[in-house]
Amino acid sequence: MLRDPCGRPVTNLRVSVIRECNQRCLYCHREGEPARTERERLSREELGRVARVAASLGIGKLKLTGGEPLLRRDLPGIIGDLAPLFGDVSLTTNGILLPPLAARLKEAGLGRVNISLDSVDPATYARMTGSDRLAEAVEGVRAARRAGLSPVKLNMVVIRGENGSQIPQMMRFSASEGAVLQLIELEAPKGRLSGEWYSEHHTDLSDVERELARRAVRTTTRRMHHRRKYVVPLRPGSPPGPGRGGKEGAGTVEIEIVRPVHNSEFCQNCNRLRLSSDGRLVPCLFRGDRGVDIAGPLRRGATDGELAGLFACAVSRREPYWTGAPARVPGRGRGLGACP
Ligand code: 5AD
Ligand code: SF4
Repeated sequence: MLRDPCGRPVTNLRVSVIRECNQRCLYCHREGEPARTERERLSREELGRVARVAASLGIGKLKLTGGEPLLRRDLPGIIGDLAPLFGDVSLTTNGILLPPLAARLKEAGLGRVNISLDSVDPATYARMTGSDRLAEAVEGVRAARRAGLSPVKLNMVVIRGENGSQIPQMMRFSASEGAVLQLIELEAPKGRLSGEWYSEHHTDLSDVERELARRAVRTTTRRMHHRRKYVVPLRPGSPPGPGRGGKEGAGTVEIEIVRPVHNSEFCQNCNRLRLSSDGRLVPCLFRGDRGVDIAGPLRRGATDGELAGLFACAVSRREPYWTGAPARVPGRGRGLGACP
């Protein structure tokens, strides 16, 4: 098993299969992708090769992301290739293109799905995503469920002044669709870290989390990032709608909190590595300076052993971003590990 210099096992690979997206979310951090790349994205065959090496190194979970992964026509084929290698394959999508595809993806071996859904209010959705395709995204949620993808998680990035007051509404919607709601604290999109925009819109979710913890009938902690999951009853007078509610039955909803900002517990328990669509292994989403090129060596005929060495190199460059130190000084930290 791969382990980084801080002892964190690396068991998850998050693969961006495409840079392009059919939405323009105002907060999008572009998954650590380069703003512009002249390089070709990894082909289906190349993804298969890299994934096989990852699986041989003990990585057991794979998540496919983008951009918008459903824009890749060969996605069902990619999933079909990768699913047998991993116990768990999931997908993060904005859901718009999901209705006609969900059943095919499930058949190809996809297990579960995260759908970005920041709001079910059409005006808020349009403002946040730059598109008026809420109805299609909602249909995507239903199609995923019908196809048997489970769980279906809804990603809601909470932004002050946009959807910050809509958490109760999203809880009701999630319950009615039998989906898990993920409340995600806003991370600074590239170049906007210290900007006014970020400080105006960032909402610390610790108060929300305290309130959910108080109301929860059950609480669990996931290994990944030590994220807490709460099963919360809906407020009296908030019927859950036509669905079945959370696993605990009608009238409850499952809520997961993703709170990465200034959270050393989150970083201490991070066990994931990223692969960008143009073939760089990226040790941490929060910093773009430690990537290891795997596409170049792959295209020059590297052996599996050499590719495994590049994984080890990227893993050796992992260090927690939020350390609990009083102030984060970008660029400070250990030197780059010795790599081939
Ligand atoms: N902060 C927090 N989450 C983000 N996402 C994208 N950009 C940000 C950001 N700046 C999340 C969204 C989306 C997923 C791909 O990444 O939840 O669903
Ligand atoms: Fe970014 Fe996802 Fe929104 Fe596309 S849908 S702009 S990738 S957050």
